Amino acid sequence: MNALTRSFSAIWNSSLGKKYIVALTGIVLFLFLAGHLIGNLLVFVGREAFNSYAVFLHEVGHGMGVWVARLVLLACLVAHVIATIQLTIQNRSAREQYQNKNTIQATLSSRIMMWTGLTILAFVIYHLLHFTVRFSNSYNDYIDPEYFAETGLQRQDAWKMVIDGFSWFPAVFFYMVALSLLCSHLSHGVSSVFQTLGFRSKKSQDLIRCGGKIYAFVIWAGFMSIPVAIYFFKFGR
Ligand code: HEM
Repeated sequence: MNALTRSFSAIWNSSLGKKYIVALTGIVLFLFLAGHLIGNLLVFVGREAFNSYAVFLHEVGHGMGVWVARLVLLACLVAHVIATIQLTIQNRSAREQYQNKNTIQATLSSRIMMWTGLTILAFVIYHLLHFTVRFSNSYNDYIDPEYFAETGLQRQDAWKMVIDGFSWFPAVFFYMVALSLLCSHLSHGVSSVFQTLGFRSKKSQDLIRCGGKIYAFVIWAGFMSIPVAIYFFKFGR
């Protein structure tokens, strides 16, 4: 075992270290969500803007950028989920030993986080099959007609994929439920991250709680606007 592996396993094997891992991977995932939201809102700007953005993502760094981002995201997601499950199991056994009001409250809130977190995980798997792997649909055959008319070249029509992806009610419903659970997860998550990193004091805790709620609401409203506009207000259809 070299020094790097030894220090990583020391961090992983301590409860505090694991809490830091949950917090830091959580920050990476929060930042991804903000970036992903901004990119996805281009759907409202139109086909040209959205498809150019999709091409940029796939071509940045000679096509390596997207894979580096995917690996970092996957590593963060796996570490975040495993560390959270292990911490929840530890908290549960601690609660059995010390039955007092504070630990019961902490465990109750972390139990909600676990369920919202696992639903988000199921959503991410569904979402990857839907828009990235494009399983059981013909989205890979969609060619951008405007770009073809202008340049004579072919490029993928990711904009139409999103419009068609949200033209089917069961998918829209599932996204709406998952995004609402994501909102609850984020609003608790943001203040937990501040607490773990030692930035939360008695004075600042209300401000942090409020900031977490605002961030979660912006993410929820932004993502929700896309399926809602497409399905209920026929945007792009
Ligand atoms: C209305 C909401 C959303 C829309 C319209 C949307 C759209 C998309 C699209 C079009 C892609 C495929 C990108 C490509 O390969 O060209 C994608 C990938 C992805 N989305 Fe979303 N997304 C939404 C919400 C979310 C949420 C809430 C999460 C996380 C909880 C998420 C996580 C991901 C991930 C991890 C990828 C894979 C990135 C990659 O490997 O390329 N998305 N999304």
